Amino acid sequence: MSALPKRDLPGADLGFAPVPVEPCVSPQYFAAEREHLFRKVWMNLGHESELPHPGDYVVKPMPTLGVEVLLVRDKAGRIGAYYNVCTHRSNKVVRNSVRGNCKGFSCGFHGWHYDLQGRLVNVPDEEQFIEFDKRDYGLRQLAVDTWENFIFVFPTSDPPLTLREWLDEIDVDIAGGPLTDLIPTARFQAQVEVNWKVFSDAFCEGYHVGFIHKRSLAGSFISESNPHCHIASPRLYRHHSIVSILGGNPKHVPTPTELLIGKFGGGSYGSGAAAFDHLPKGLNPERDPSWNFDIVNVFPNFAVHVGADFAYSYNFWPVAADRTIWDVAIYQAPPKNWSEAVALNYMRVLLRDSLREDVNTTEASQQNLNAGILQGIPLSQQEVVLRHRYKVVERWLAEANR
Ligand code: FES
Ligand SMILES: [Fe+2]
Repeated sequence: MSALPKRDLPGADLGFAPVPVEPCVSPQYFAAEREHLFRKVWMNLGHESELPHPGDYVVKPMPTLGVEVLLVRDKAGRIGAYYNVCTHRSNKVVRNSVRGNCKGFSCGFHGWHYDLQGRLVNVPDEEQFIEFDKRDYGLRQLAVDTWENFIFVFPTSDPPLTLREWLDEIDVDIAGGPLTDLIPTARFQAQVEVNWKVFSDAFCEGYHVGFIHKRSLAGSFISESNPHCHIASPRLYRHHSIVSILGGNPKHVPTPTELLIGKFGGGSYGSGAAAFDHLPKGLNPERDPSWNFDIVNVFPNFAVHVGADFAYSYNFWPVAADRTIWDVAIYQAPPKNWSEAVALNYMRVLLRDSLREDVNTTEASQQNLNAGILQGIPLSQQEVVLRHRYKVVERWLAEANR
């Protein structure tokens, strides 16, 4: 396998034993994750492009916490995040739309009105409320900040770390890269009967490419020099991780459609860009000519796959030990002409189809994990990113219980 001695292998400090199945199936483990992890961590909840103008708002479910959040751009252009919970009798303040532009929010139940900064500014028949101060009843706020145009929130207004501090492990490496100029061009959502970690695992390695993607991606990803689609440069941080996915089979014979699409900026997958000098040093750090994209796992439930001129984002929202709501978005540069538009659309369809392949095995695996036949999951060095996430969750919960 590797010429490196065992102790020098990436992730050697995590050990090599099978990871236990219990965290993938146990309702108690999931309850602990929800209370001690998902209530206490920064999470991605949208993209700045969804709120281009002052007064724009978007309603974002946080399925794991069973609540919606209002992301709002105020008159000064700042983004705020508020629970969509009227502070009177808990109605949803915004109920009939998922996005829009407004001057403030009125609750449909008794007409309490909030401004764009979540302040309660009007209460009909206010005199009937005794020992009551409107200032105490603004919308409940979440901390909010952005990174590479992605909007992150923290479930309370007083996070122990700023978003910058939380992302400090990776921020310097990829900031200012392709994510700066890309906009979302497609979104998908699915609910799957799979544990969130098991499901995320399907998107973190190349080991499956030759099999699950045999008829779609394998021809362009698998080459004589990399027959098992080995990953490159796994970077395992305290919480987050990045790994490079290589592609570029020089012997791949493009289909007629791929040939045509290739002329207009598309390819078999990804960009086919030859030069990577403009990339931040954290992306494709080895400057491998066959590089396709880097998988950036922002702990715990967000991943963004960043190529030279495209990106995909994934949000994994656990709602039960074996159920996950999954949001996917594709980011591309705006097309300059109709030919490019067709090529970009082709890439979106190719991704959609390969995602369907990725999902294919996950529910079957979960059913078998639930059945309790196996107690451990053996992972290869090609799956070291998976091991890393299991270990970080385990450590996080252990620290929470101290
Ligand atoms: S519940 Fe919103 S005004 Fe009464
Ligand atoms: Fe895949």
